[in-house]
Amino acid sequence: MNNLLKVSNLKKSYEPSLLKVNVLHGIDLEIKKGTWNTLLGSSGCGKSTLLHLIAGLDRPSSGEIFFEGQEITRYNAKSLAEYRRDQIGIVFQFFNLFSALSVEENLLIPLMLKKQNYTQSKKEITQLLDQLEMRPLLKRQVHDLSGGERQRIAFCRALLAKPKLLLADEPTGSLDQKSGQSVIQLMRYAQRELKTTVFMVTHDPRLAAISDQVLHMQDGRFVTPCLS
Ligand SMILES: Nc1ncnc2c1ncn2[C@@H]1O[C@H](COP(=O)(O)OP(=O)(O)OP(=O)(O)O)[C@@H](O)[C@H]1O
Ligand SMILES: [Mg+2]
Repeated sequence: MNNLLKVSNLKKSYEPSLLKVNVLHGIDLEIKKGTWNTLLGSSGCGKSTLLHLIAGLDRPSSGEIFFEGQEITRYNAKSLAEYRRDQIGIVFQFFNLFSALSVEENLLIPLMLKKQNYTQSKKEITQLLDQLEMRPLLKRQVHDLSGGERQRIAFCRALLAKPKLLLADEPTGSLDQKSGQSVIQLMRYAQRELKTTVFMVTHDPRLAAISDQVLHMQDGRFVTPCLS
């Protein structure tokens, strides 16, 4: 099967108060294995909402999401948690690391959740950081790291669980250009070496150039952009 992900007529509304907010209005999407997919769109159009639904962090109002042919929108809470743990890597704009812990402790978390052997886990962490020339960060405390370093560690944490799909929500949004570049290189490494499929939300149209598929969202729908 060529498709890793298929989304069909996906709708999402929020009802925080009396006023119902319709955010996604019937999204259809296919993501092929091993590809780099970029999602662009103005603030508030529904990008993070879509990412959260694909990650199984929230439920749609209607529509289906298939991952490797399995309909995850039918999963119960336990299966959805396993799906998140085993298939998906998530990186958000603001790192989501435990700042009171060391880099190594943060990186051990996904492997411990998988009940992987402790010694083996430590070995895998050192190997990955060696490959990415980030070994000097291993014993550092997260609260002492720069924003760029934190984001690269957040990616390492997502990659250690060997996800099939890496979901990144504006991962370079809070970084300067140089740090942003090294984060993109890390994602390229994941795509090339680990065969990870990438789905990335960004406000940076330059990233469209390196994408296999570029999606433009406007008011909860995919649109064809007007070239001006
Ligand atoms: N939990 C929620 N309850 C109510 N409304 C929400 C909730 N989450 C998001 N929304 C609304 O849904 C709309 C889409 O939000 P979303 O976060 O998906 O936008 P976005 O495209 O990611 O924007 P940005 O580029 O600013 O991150 C917004 O109007 C937002 O206020
Ligand atoms: Mg967002």
